[in-house]
Amino acid sequence: MCGIFGYVGSNRATPILINGLKALEYRGYDSAGIFVSDCGSVKAVGPVVNLESKIPQGMNGSTGIAHTRWATHGVPSEANAHPHHDKSESIWLVHNGIIENYNELKSEMQAKGINFYSETDTEVLAKLIGTYFDGDLKQAVLSALKQVRGTYGVAVMHDQDASQVVVARMGSPIVIGVGYDGNYISSDPSALLAYTKEVVYLEDGEVAVVTGSACEVESIKGDKIEKTTEIIDWDHTAIQKNGYAHFMLKEIFEAPKVIEDTIRGRVSANGSVKLGGVEAVLPKLKDLERLQIVGCGSAFYAGSVGKYMLKEYANLPVEVELASEYRYTKQIFDKNTALLAVTQSGETADTLASLRLGKEHKVLTLGVVNAVGSTIARETDAGVYNHAGPEIAVASTKAFISQLTVFALLTLLLGKERGVLNEKESRDIAESIVNLPKVLKSVLDESAFIEEVAKKYAKYDNMMLIGRKLHAPIASEGALKIKEVSYIHAEGYAGGELKHGPIALLHDGLPVIALLPQDDVYEKMYSNVEEVKARRAPVLAIANIGDEKIGKLADDVIFTPKTHPILQPIVTSVVLQLLSYYTGVGKGYDVDRPRNLAKSVTVE
Ligand code: F6R
Repeated sequence: MCGIFGYVGSNRATPILINGLKALEYRGYDSAGIFVSDCGSVKAVGPVVNLESKIPQGMNGSTGIAHTRWATHGVPSEANAHPHHDKSESIWLVHNGIIENYNELKSEMQAKGINFYSETDTEVLAKLIGTYFDGDLKQAVLSALKQVRGTYGVAVMHDQDASQVVVARMGSPIVIGVGYDGNYISSDPSALLAYTKEVVYLEDGEVAVVTGSACEVESIKGDKIEKTTEIIDWDHTAIQKNGYAHFMLKEIFEAPKVIEDTIRGRVSANGSVKLGGVEAVLPKLKDLERLQIVGCGSAFYAGSVGKYMLKEYANLPVEVELASEYRYTKQIFDKNTALLAVTQSGETADTLASLRLGKEHKVLTLGVVNAVGSTIARETDAGVYNHAGPEIAVASTKAFISQLTVFALLTLLLGKERGVLNEKESRDIAESIVNLPKVLKSVLDESAFIEEVAKKYAKYDNMMLIGRKLHAPIASEGALKIKEVSYIHAEGYAGGELKHGPIALLHDGLPVIALLPQDDVYEKMYSNVEEVKARRAPVLAIANIGDEKIGKLADDVIFTPKTHPILQPIVTSVVLQLLSYYTGVGKGYDVDRPRNLAKSVTVE
């Protein structure tokens, strides 16, 4: 979604801003723009290279703000692209989020003779700041922000003052990067990595004046706030393709390393498990009576697999809710319930709103979060970081498998604590977790074969995926991935649901991807595949090595190594991710940036 980048310092701002925007491209956007001190503004619809090609010679100012826009109010156009300016065209602003009362503010200003050139809520905020400006930009920003309702991350500057950028945050992230020859501003810490790893996170309700050598923060009410600088422990190479054709492929191939990073120092083959982030609340988790898990998209499916794990191996009643529905439906909160938010970005608006609802009702809040320092990571009472590193491709791959791994660790921990898993069972799970990177490596070694299979199935317009138990949500997640990157319509179902409706769709032109590892529902899944074959639908099975029976029934089989049932969904997921990737690439699509999608959905 929309991205903000800014620079105040002694260097030429333009190339820094363009680089910053390129680092934000992965989030999804439709237009971009910059404003540079002493030089003015340039905007363009489409990719950042379109903007770059319009930059005039001599755009040499040393302070600037930049933006990638993902349209919410008004079509993608130069007029609607940020930065936006006030009536006098001296105050310039970039904004992420939504100003909810923009219509009423706009009418009030129009009545006073202020004209608007765009359809955006952001221009309303720029104009509003202009009405309060009397020489002090920070004060004008503060006065304007007191009038608005909604969410914002903003960066504002005055064309006559290259010494500062004023930034503010309410519900949409702003991070300040502390550099040697200037300071940087971004809505996404990963975009700062090329310049600095030292960052200051702004909290909701905070405003900062950023100069080339300092960053002074205060609350919107005007109280001074002392901030500490934090270090981002991500490597700059994590946001580069490193020789891979796409970020998505690179991130799928990172699977073994991602799992090593997720489990490092947390589990050993003898069955011991330690999750520092939840240690303080362990007594509460031990006696927990109900866990609610919330998430969106892939994170929701990860939570759904987590539900099966925690119910079966930790005897914990679990419900999983779509975060986008959570606050609009009746929730029952009690003191023995905890709420767990699953999120890669840690910024998803619906997941954050669900978490805040839980906090309002004083339930224990937990997070399974990848982005260190993100809003959800900071607002939860306790949690476990994925440590998957920055995920740049829009479709979630490595973060998803690391979420499943965190659920396996959590299940092992709670299964032991709650007296459900005995020593042998704990050891079996722990050994399998420790061995997982090797298992995934052998799956990746089959990528050329998976690419061949993908070519065969890419010709279809529709697909169905089926699985049972832990593999039922994996069927849905696989279908989501196929939809996202290959635009093939795909739906996932629990195998047992076929007869209750979806079987009506089956014919020789609708392939079914059947997920049937050797687990306790194998025979049930096998019967489902027989039902599918009886309707002449082509079947691609994903099954365990050595399963000769399915080899005779299915049209194609991708064989995977067998691991503990709790981890098998991770193995299957990597196969489905490769299948989706090769299908999308085979069809010529930009799999890293699927149409209409944004990486981090920070608006409702
Ligand atoms: C799918 C995908 C999305 C995200 C969802 C939640 O490939 O990436 O469905 O999983 O938007 O995002 P986070 O995890 O950042 O809350």
